[in-house]
Amino acid sequence: MAASAIISIGAYAPSRVVTNDDLSKIMDTSDEWIRTRTGIHQRHMALAEETTASMSFNAAQAALDTATMDAADLDWILLCTDTPEMWTPATACFVQESLHAKRASAIDLTGGCAGFLQTLELADAVAKTGKIVMVIGTELLTRSMDWSDRSTAVLFGDGAGAVIVAPDRGQGIQLTHSRTYSDGSQTDILQKPYGGTRNPIPPEIVAHGGHHRIHMEGRKVFRHAVQRMSQSAREILTDVKLPVDAVDWIVPHQANQRILTAVADALHIPMNKVFSHVQNYANTGSASIILALADMFEQDLILPRQRLISVAFGAGFSWGSAVWTVQSLPPTRFIGRDQ
Ligand code: ACO
Repeated sequence: MAASAIISIGAYAPSRVVTNDDLSKIMDTSDEWIRTRTGIHQRHMALAEETTASMSFNAAQAALDTATMDAADLDWILLCTDTPEMWTPATACFVQESLHAKRASAIDLTGGCAGFLQTLELADAVAKTGKIVMVIGTELLTRSMDWSDRSTAVLFGDGAGAVIVAPDRGQGIQLTHSRTYSDGSQTDILQKPYGGTRNPIPPEIVAHGGHHRIHMEGRKVFRHAVQRMSQSAREILTDVKLPVDAVDWIVPHQANQRILTAVADALHIPMNKVFSHVQNYANTGSASIILALADMFEQDLILPRQRLISVAFGAGFSWGSAVWTVQSLPPTRFIGRDQ
Protein backbone atom coordinates (compact mmCIF):
# COMPACT_ATOMS: atom_id res chain seq x y z
CA MET A 1 0.00 0.00 0.00
CA ALA A 2 1.22 3.55 -0.70
CA ALA A 3 2.69 5.39 2.26
CA SER A 4 3.33 8.98 3.23
CA ALA A 5 6.31 10.63 4.90
CA ILE A 6 7.29 13.64 6.95
CA ILE A 7 9.70 15.49 4.67
CA SER A 8 10.37 18.58 6.77
CA ILE A 9 10.03 19.77 10.38
CA GLY A 10 9.73 23.28 11.83
CA ALA A 11 9.31 24.29 15.46
CA TYR A 12 9.02 27.47 17.45
CA ALA A 13 9.36 28.22 21.16
CA PRO A 14 8.81 31.79 22.39
CA SER A 15 11.89 33.59 23.72
CA ARG A 16 10.45 34.29 27.19
CA VAL A 17 11.35 31.59 29.72
CA VAL A 18 9.46 31.30 33.02
CA THR A 19 11.08 29.18 35.71
CA ASN A 20 9.42 27.38 38.59
CA ASP A 21 10.93 29.99 40.93
CA ASP A 22 9.24 32.72 38.85
CA LEU A 23 5.89 30.95 39.38
CA SER A 24 6.51 30.60 43.10
CA LYS A 25 6.45 34.42 43.28
CA ILE A 26 2.87 34.58 42.00
CA MET A 27 1.33 31.43 43.52
CA ASP A 28 1.73 29.08 46.45
CA THR A 29 4.10 26.58 44.86
CA SER A 30 7.80 25.73 44.84
CA ASP A 31 10.48 24.62 42.43
CA GLU A 32 10.90 21.49 44.54
CA TRP A 33 7.17 20.53 44.32
CA ILE A 34 6.98 21.07 40.56
CA ARG A 35 10.25 19.25 39.79
CA THR A 36 9.41 16.28 41.99
CA ARG A 37 5.84 15.84 40.74
CA THR A 38 6.38 16.66 37.05
CA GLY A 39 10.07 16.96 36.12
CA ILE A 40 9.38 20.45 34.78
CA HIS A 41 12.03 23.13 35.46
CA GLN A 42 10.77 25.90 33.19
CA ARG A 43 8.36 26.65 30.36
CA HIS A 44 8.37 29.04 27.39
CA MET A 45 5.66 31.68 27.46
CA ALA A 46 4.43 33.69 24.48
CA LEU A 47 5.16 37.42 24.47
CA ALA A 48 2.20 39.82 24.63
CA GLU A 49 2.30 40.47 20.89
CA GLU A 50 2.36 36.77 19.99
CA THR A 51 -0.73 34.71 19.19
CA THR A 52 -1.45 31.10 18.26
CA ALA A 53 -1.42 32.03 14.57
CA SER A 54 1.86 33.96 14.75
CA MET A 55 3.63 31.12 16.57
CA SER A 56 2.18 28.63 14.08
CA PHE A 57 3.35 30.74 11.17
CA ASN A 58 6.90 30.79 12.59
CA ALA A 59 6.95 26.99 12.81
CA ALA A 60 5.33 26.46 9.40
CA GLN A 61 7.62 28.94 7.64
CA ALA A 62 10.62 27.26 9.28
CA ALA A 63 9.45 23.88 7.90
CA LEU A 64 9.10 25.36 4.40
CA ASP A 65 12.39 27.30 4.50
CA THR A 66 14.51 24.44 5.75
CA ALA A 67 13.18 22.22 2.94
CA THR A 68 13.38 25.09 0.39
CA MET A 69 9.73 24.51 -0.40
CA ASP A 70 7.19 27.04 -1.55
CA ALA A 71 3.94 27.58 0.37
CA ALA A 72 2.16 27.51 -2.99
CA ASP A 73 2.91 23.76 -3.12
CA LEU A 74 0.69 23.05 -0.09
CA ASP A 75 -2.70 21.45 -0.78
CA TRP A 76 -3.84 21.41 2.85
CA ILE A 77 -3.10 23.06 6.19
CA LEU A 78 -4.40 20.93 9.08
CA LEU A 79 -3.89 22.82 12.33
CA CYS A 80 -4.47 21.18 15.67
CA THR A 81 -4.95 23.30 18.79
CA ASP A 82 -7.00 23.71 21.94
CA THR A 83 -6.13 27.42 22.06
CA PRO A 84 -7.31 28.91 18.75
CA GLU A 85 -6.69 32.44 17.51
CA MET A 86 -10.43 33.13 17.89
CA TRP A 87 -13.67 31.16 17.78
CA THR A 88 -14.01 31.63 14.05
CA PRO A 89 -12.50 31.60 11.50
CA ALA A 90 -10.06 28.72 11.79
CA THR A 91 -6.55 29.59 13.01
CA ALA A 92 -5.34 27.65 9.97
CA CYS A 93 -6.82 30.37 7.73
CA PHE A 94 -4.73 33.06 9.45
CA VAL A 95 -1.66 30.91 8.90
CA GLN A 96 -2.59 30.25 5.27
CA GLU A 97 -2.73 34.00 4.65
CA SER A 98 0.60 34.70 6.40
CA LEU A 99 2.30 31.91 4.43
CA HIS A 100 0.64 32.97 1.13
CA ALA A 101 -0.38 29.33 0.72
CA LYS A 102 -3.00 30.34 -1.81
CA ARG A 103 -3.88 26.85 -3.05
CA ALA A 104 -4.23 25.30 0.41
CA SER A 105 -7.50 24.35 2.05
CA ALA A 106 -7.15 25.23 5.74
CA ILE A 107 -8.97 23.81 8.74
CA ASP A 108 -8.56 23.45 12.52
CA LEU A 109 -8.91 20.30 14.61
CA THR A 110 -9.06 19.95 18.39
CA GLY A 111 -7.77 16.78 19.99
CA GLY A 112 -6.16 17.74 23.28
CA CYS A 113 -2.67 16.41 23.81
CA ALA A 114 -3.26 13.49 21.41
CA GLY A 115 -4.34 15.90 18.68
CA PHE A 116 -1.10 15.83 16.73
CA LEU A 117 -1.13 12.04 16.27
CA GLN A 118 -4.82 12.14 15.31
CA THR A 119 -4.23 14.96 12.82
CA LEU A 120 -1.19 13.19 11.40
CA GLU A 121 -3.30 10.09 10.76
CA LEU A 122 -5.70 12.24 8.69
CA ALA A 123 -2.78 13.93 6.89
CA ASP A 124 -1.39 10.49 6.05
CA ALA A 125 -4.67 9.53 4.37
CA VAL A 126 -4.73 12.79 2.39
CA ALA A 127 -1.06 12.57 1.37
CA LYS A 128 -1.58 9.04 0.08
CA THR A 129 -3.85 10.59 -2.58
CA GLY A 130 -0.84 12.56 -3.85
CA LYS A 131 -1.37 15.81 -1.91
CA ILE A 132 1.03 17.82 0.25
CA VAL A 133 -0.16 18.63 3.75
CA MET A 134 1.21 21.04 6.34
CA VAL A 135 0.32 19.64 9.78
CA ILE A 136 0.61 22.16 12.61
CA GLY A 137 0.36 21.37 16.33
CA THR A 138 0.25 24.57 18.33
CA GLU A 139 -0.75 25.87 21.76
CA LEU A 140 -0.70 29.19 23.54
CA LEU A 141 -1.87 27.69 26.79
CA THR A 142 -0.46 30.30 29.17
CA ARG A 143 -2.77 33.04 27.87
CA SER A 144 -5.94 31.18 28.73
CA MET A 145 -4.86 29.85 32.11
CA ASP A 146 -6.44 30.23 35.52
CA TRP A 147 -3.33 31.44 37.33
CA SER A 148 -5.07 31.02 40.69
CA ASP A 149 -5.17 27.23 40.15
CA ARG A 150 -1.69 25.99 41.03
CA SER A 151 -2.57 22.37 40.27
CA THR A 152 -2.86 23.05 36.52
CA ALA A 153 -1.06 26.37 35.91
CA VAL A 154 2.40 24.92 36.57
CA LEU A 155 2.03 22.12 34.01
CA PHE A 156 1.83 23.90 30.68
CA GLY A 157 3.91 25.95 28.26
CA ASP A 158 3.59 27.54 24.81
CA GLY A 159 4.99 26.42 21.47
CA ALA A 160 4.22 25.49 17.88
CA GLY A 161 5.41 22.74 15.57
CA ALA A 162 4.85 21.98 11.90
CA VAL A 163 5.58 18.97 9.71
CA ILE A 164 5.14 18.68 5.96
CA VAL A 165 3.58 15.37 4.96
CA ALA A 166 3.90 14.19 1.35
CA PRO A 167 3.53 10.97 -0.64
CA ASP A 168 6.41 8.68 0.34
CA ARG A 169 9.30 8.83 -2.11
CA GLY A 170 11.83 7.13 0.19
CA GLN A 171 12.90 10.37 1.92
CA GLY A 172 12.29 11.64 5.45
CA ILE A 173 10.25 9.78 8.07
CA GLN A 174 7.88 7.19 6.67
CA LEU A 175 4.57 7.10 8.55
CA THR A 176 4.58 3.34 8.77
CA HIS A 177 1.49 2.76 10.90
CA SER A 178 -0.85 4.66 13.18
CA ARG A 179 -3.74 3.86 15.53
CA THR A 180 -5.64 6.48 17.49
CA TYR A 181 -8.64 6.17 19.80
CA SER A 182 -11.17 8.22 21.77
CA ASP A 183 -13.38 7.49 24.77
CA GLY A 184 -16.00 10.21 25.15
CA SER A 185 -17.31 8.71 28.39
CA GLN A 186 -14.35 10.35 30.17
CA THR A 187 -14.92 13.98 29.15
CA ASP A 188 -15.58 15.02 32.76
CA ILE A 189 -12.12 14.12 34.08
CA LEU A 190 -10.18 16.66 32.03
CA GLN A 191 -12.03 19.62 30.59
CA LYS A 192 -12.11 23.36 30.23
CA PRO A 193 -15.80 23.76 30.85
CA TYR A 194 -16.59 27.45 30.26
CA GLY A 195 -17.14 29.43 27.10
CA GLY A 196 -18.90 26.96 24.85
CA THR A 197 -22.62 26.37 24.31
CA ARG A 198 -23.00 24.06 27.32
CA ASN A 199 -21.62 26.48 29.92
CA PRO A 200 -21.73 30.14 28.87
CA ILE A 201 -19.20 32.15 30.87
CA PRO A 202 -20.58 33.35 34.26
CA PRO A 203 -19.79 37.11 34.42
CA GLU A 204 -18.79 36.95 38.10
CA ILE A 205 -15.84 34.65 37.47
CA VAL A 206 -14.38 36.56 34.52
CA ALA A 207 -12.74 39.19 36.73
CA HIS A 208 -10.35 36.67 38.31
CA GLY A 209 -9.83 34.52 35.21
CA GLY A 210 -11.95 31.65 36.51
CA HIS A 211 -13.48 31.12 33.05
CA HIS A 212 -10.06 29.79 31.99
CA ARG A 213 -10.13 27.11 34.68
CA ILE A 214 -9.12 23.64 33.57
CA HIS A 215 -10.98 21.01 35.55
CA MET A 216 -8.54 18.13 35.93
CA GLU A 217 -8.64 15.11 38.20
CA GLY A 218 -4.87 14.77 38.16
CA ARG A 219 -4.47 11.30 39.61
CA LYS A 220 -7.12 9.79 37.32
CA VAL A 221 -5.55 11.49 34.30
CA PHE A 222 -2.17 10.09 35.35
CA ARG A 223 -3.50 6.55 35.67
CA HIS A 224 -5.41 6.60 32.38
CA ALA A 225 -2.47 8.20 30.54
CA VAL A 226 -0.02 5.51 31.59
CA GLN A 227 -2.43 2.68 30.89
CA ARG A 228 -3.64 3.95 27.51
CA MET A 229 -0.25 4.97 26.18
CA SER A 230 1.44 1.70 27.09
CA GLN A 231 -1.50 -0.40 25.85
CA SER A 232 -1.68 1.39 22.50
CA ALA A 233 2.10 1.10 22.06
CA ARG A 234 1.86 -2.66 22.60
CA GLU A 235 -1.05 -2.91 20.14
CA ILE A 236 0.68 -1.03 17.37
CA LEU A 237 3.89 -3.01 17.78
CA THR A 238 1.82 -6.19 17.45
CA ASP A 239 0.22 -4.76 14.29
CA VAL A 240 3.61 -4.18 12.66
CA LYS A 241 5.08 -7.37 14.14
CA LEU A 242 7.94 -5.57 15.89
CA PRO A 243 9.33 -6.58 19.27
CA VAL A 244 9.71 -3.75 21.76
CA ASP A 245 13.51 -3.97 21.62
CA ALA A 246 13.46 -3.23 17.86
CA VAL A 247 12.32 0.31 18.69
CA ASP A 248 15.19 2.80 18.75
CA TRP A 249 13.32 5.71 20.31
CA ILE A 250 10.01 6.48 21.94
CA VAL A 251 8.97 10.04 21.09
CA PRO A 252 6.15 10.61 23.58
CA HIS A 253 3.82 13.49 24.19
CA GLN A 254 5.69 15.47 26.84
CA ALA A 255 3.06 15.36 29.61
CA ASN A 256 5.32 15.04 32.59
CA GLN A 257 8.38 13.03 33.54
CA ARG A 258 6.59 10.69 35.94
CA ILE A 259 4.12 9.67 33.22
CA LEU A 260 6.99 9.03 30.77
CA THR A 261 8.87 6.94 33.32
CA ALA A 262 5.76 4.91 34.15
CA VAL A 263 5.06 4.23 30.45
CA ALA A 264 8.68 3.12 29.91
CA ASP A 265 8.42 0.81 32.93
CA ALA A 266 5.16 -0.69 31.67
CA LEU A 267 6.73 -1.38 28.26
CA HIS A 268 10.05 -2.58 29.73
CA ILE A 269 11.88 0.02 27.67
CA PRO A 270 15.02 1.64 29.16
CA MET A 271 14.72 5.37 29.83
CA ASN A 272 17.63 6.12 27.51
CA LYS A 273 15.30 5.24 24.61
CA VAL A 274 12.54 7.58 25.83
CA PHE A 275 13.07 11.15 24.69
CA SER A 276 12.18 13.84 27.19
CA HIS A 277 12.74 17.56 27.27
CA VAL A 278 9.73 18.28 29.45
CA GLN A 279 12.08 19.97 31.93
CA ASN A 280 12.59 22.83 29.43
CA TYR A 281 9.23 23.22 27.68
CA ALA A 282 6.62 21.67 30.07
CA ASN A 283 3.45 20.30 28.45
CA THR A 284 2.79 22.07 25.14
CA GLY A 285 -0.27 20.00 24.21
CA SER A 286 -0.67 19.46 20.46
CA ALA A 287 2.78 20.94 19.81
CA SER A 288 4.76 18.72 22.14
CA ILE A 289 5.60 15.74 19.90
CA ILE A 290 6.74 18.00 17.05
CA LEU A 291 8.92 20.04 19.43
CA ALA A 292 10.40 16.78 20.72
CA LEU A 293 11.10 15.48 17.18
CA ALA A 294 12.65 18.78 16.13
CA ASP A 295 14.86 18.86 19.22
CA MET A 296 16.00 15.28 18.60
CA PHE A 297 16.94 15.94 14.97
CA GLU A 298 18.73 19.18 15.88
CA GLN A 299 20.71 17.26 18.50
CA ASP A 300 21.53 14.50 15.94
CA LEU A 301 19.97 11.90 18.23
CA ILE A 302 18.08 10.10 15.44
CA LEU A 303 19.86 8.19 12.68
CA PRO A 304 18.70 6.92 9.29
CA ARG A 305 17.04 3.48 9.38
CA GLN A 306 15.96 3.90 13.00
CA ARG A 307 12.44 3.01 14.08
CA LEU A 308 10.51 5.46 16.24
CA ILE A 309 7.28 5.00 18.12
CA SER A 310 5.28 8.00 19.22
CA VAL A 311 2.62 7.82 21.93
CA ALA A 312 0.16 10.41 23.20
CA PHE A 313 -2.78 10.83 25.55
CA GLY A 314 -4.99 13.78 26.36
CA ALA A 315 -8.41 15.27 27.00
CA GLY A 316 -11.38 13.47 25.50
CA PHE A 317 -9.93 11.07 26.37
CA SER A 318 -8.09 10.60 23.10
CA TRP A 319 -4.86 8.68 22.70
CA GLY A 320 -2.84 6.62 20.28
CA SER A 321 0.49 5.51 18.88
CA ALA A 322 2.37 5.72 15.62
CA VAL A 323 5.33 3.79 14.23
CA TRP A 324 7.71 5.78 12.05
CA THR A 325 10.69 4.61 9.98
CA VAL A 326 13.53 7.08 9.41
CA GLN A 327 14.52 6.78 5.73
CA SER A 328 16.70 9.89 5.70
CA LEU A 329 17.10 12.82 8.08
CA PRO A 330 14.37 15.36 7.31
CA PRO A 331 15.45 19.01 7.12
CA THR A 332 14.63 20.50 10.52
CA ARG A 333 14.65 23.99 12.02
CA PHE A 334 13.71 24.73 15.64
CA ILE A 335 13.54 28.46 16.36
CA GLY A 336 14.03 29.31 20.04
CA ARG A 337 15.38 25.89 21.00
CA ASP A 338 17.12 25.63 24.39
CA GLN A 339 20.77 24.75 23.78
N1 ACO B 1 2.49 23.43 44.20
C1 ACO B 1 2.42 22.98 45.46
N2 ACO B 1 1.46 22.15 45.90
C2 ACO B 1 0.53 21.75 45.01
C3 ACO B 1 0.55 22.20 43.67
C4 ACO B 1 1.57 23.08 43.27
N3 ACO B 1 1.69 23.56 42.01
N4 ACO B 1 -0.50 21.64 43.03
C5 ACO B 1 -1.15 20.87 43.92
N5 ACO B 1 -0.52 20.96 45.10
C6 ACO B 1 -0.88 20.27 46.36
C7 ACO B 1 -2.32 19.86 46.43
O1 ACO B 1 -3.13 20.94 46.83
C8 ACO B 1 -2.28 18.75 47.45
O2 ACO B 1 -2.23 19.33 48.72
P1 ACO B 1 -3.00 18.64 49.95
O3 ACO B 1 -2.37 17.29 50.11
O4 ACO B 1 -2.71 19.57 51.08
O5 ACO B 1 -4.42 18.57 49.54
C9 ACO B 1 -0.91 18.09 47.20
O6 ACO B 1 -0.14 19.06 46.45
C10 ACO B 1 -0.99 16.81 46.41
O7 ACO B 1 -1.85 17.02 45.31
P2 ACO B 1 -2.15 15.88 44.29
O8 ACO B 1 -3.02 16.42 43.20
O9 ACO B 1 -2.61 14.66 45.00
O10 ACO B 1 -0.68 15.58 43.71
P3 ACO B 1 -0.20 14.48 42.75
O11 ACO B 1 0.90 13.73 43.39
O12 ACO B 1 -1.32 13.69 42.15
O13 ACO B 1 0.45 15.33 41.55
C11 ACO B 1 -0.10 16.05 39.33
C12 ACO B 1 -0.37 16.23 40.81
C13 ACO B 1 1.34 16.45 39.04
C14 ACO B 1 -1.03 17.00 38.56
C15 ACO B 1 -0.34 14.56 38.92
O14 ACO B 1 -1.61 14.13 39.37
C16 ACO B 1 -0.24 14.34 37.44
O15 ACO B 1 0.84 14.36 36.87
N6 ACO B 1 -1.38 14.10 36.75
C17 ACO B 1 -1.40 14.08 35.28
C18 ACO B 1 -1.83 15.45 34.83
C19 ACO B 1 -1.39 15.85 33.46
O16 ACO B 1 -0.34 15.49 32.96
N7 ACO B 1 -2.22 16.68 32.80
C20 ACO B 1 -1.89 17.30 31.55
C21 ACO B 1 -2.96 17.14 30.54
S1 ACO B 1 -3.24 15.46 30.10
C22 ACO B 1 -1.80 14.91 29.45
O17 ACO B 1 -1.03 15.64 28.91
C23 ACO B 1 -1.47 13.48 29.61
